[in-house]
Amino acid sequence: MRMLVTGGAGFIGSNFVHHVVAHTDHQVTVLDALTYAGNRASLAGLPENRVRFVHGNITDAGLVDELFADTDAVVHYAAESHNDNSLHDPRPFLDTNIVGTYTLLEAARKHDVRLHHISTDEVYGDLELDDPQRFTDTTPYNPSSPYSSTKAGSDLLVRAWVRSFGVRATLSNCSNNYGPYQHVEKFIPRQITNVLRGIRPKLYGAGLNVRDWIHADDHSSAVLTVLEQGRIGETYLIGADGEKNNKDVVELILTLMDQPADAYDHVTDRAGHDLRYAIDSAKLRTELGWTPQYDDFDRGLAATIDWYRTNEHWWAPAKDATEAFYAERGQ
Ligand code: NAD
Ligand code: DAU
Repeated sequence: MRMLVTGGAGFIGSNFVHHVVAHTDHQVTVLDALTYAGNRASLAGLPENRVRFVHGNITDAGLVDELFADTDAVVHYAAESHNDNSLHDPRPFLDTNIVGTYTLLEAARKHDVRLHHISTDEVYGDLELDDPQRFTDTTPYNPSSPYSSTKAGSDLLVRAWVRSFGVRATLSNCSNNYGPYQHVEKFIPRQITNVLRGIRPKLYGAGLNVRDWIHADDHSSAVLTVLEQGRIGETYLIGADGEKNNKDVVELILTLMDQPADAYDHVTDRAGHDLRYAIDSAKLRTELGWTPQYDDFDRGLAATIDWYRTNEHWWAPAKDATEAFYAERGQ
């Protein structure tokens, strides 16, 4: 299969490209604009006869049209992905997440190309800490931030193009990913690299917010499963039963890195901060037979810490600017 991966130089997209090369015979073309979040080094070492890199923007209709003409399937990861950035400057989120997804949908319609759209559990809003319900594909959309509202908008565009124009698309909404190649702006890599730099980790507010963690490699296997076996027009929620509050995660990082568990600072909370996400992935597991491989968060986190320890050349160039951005906001 000839596969086009948008955003394949980002965190989850690059993990997916590594996964596809290791587990299939597919030929991969990566389309990535190399924004601040994209990094060609995340694709280093992959065989040139399997992976081609195209530097370009998903809003460039001419380029997208050209690439779709030579593609059997598209997996669409490219997005502006960070909530804190969306609170500071929402505009790029509208351009990439909404107009970019629209541009891909029009090309998929013209060339009748199979498309899988990657989305997030944040489209469903948040849950109370004691709510026994988890998100399913019938939970009403209720996004909170500029980021999650533009992802919700992109999901609705995909659904409309399936129904109105017969585009062969599936969708998946996944919970918080961790693993190698994640930008240092995000919670887990920020705290690990803070400790490596001798900076105290920073916890927003009281740290009671819950995220449902899944290893990026498990996200990749789930996406391949949906691409190969998913029913057109369907939405599959991806999660690995990994609910933890932020305070527990920071304390675990500190303990795994041989620091006192309380050696962190509470900082200004995120505006509109979602309290809890939780995924019910029963549909994906029972209908398509998927199961996650990383069932031990502590072990997965320890391996991720090791990766950042040995790959400082990968993350160091972004660290100072990221911390300066947060410092200006008291975070
Ligand atoms: P990321 O920010 O690490 O990577 C995004 C990639 O997209 C970068 O390589 C960037 O250069 C590229 N990109 C951005 N705008 C582009 C444009 N206009 N044209 C072409 N390329 C562009 O993001 P991520 O965390 O890897 O997230 C990838 C996808 O997965 C996103 O759609 C996100 O909404 C979704 N998602 C993320 C998580 C998570 O925990 N990180 C969870 C669920 C879903
Ligand atoms: O749920 C899926 C989403 O997970 C994805 O759609 C997003 O692309 C991805 O960025 C992630 O969103 P979050 O906002 O949950 O992730 P983030 O890593 O920014 O923050 C995780 C939690 O940690 C959140 O409750 C905010 C908190 N936090 C974050 C940072 C950067 C801190 O307490 N301190 C920090 O320094």
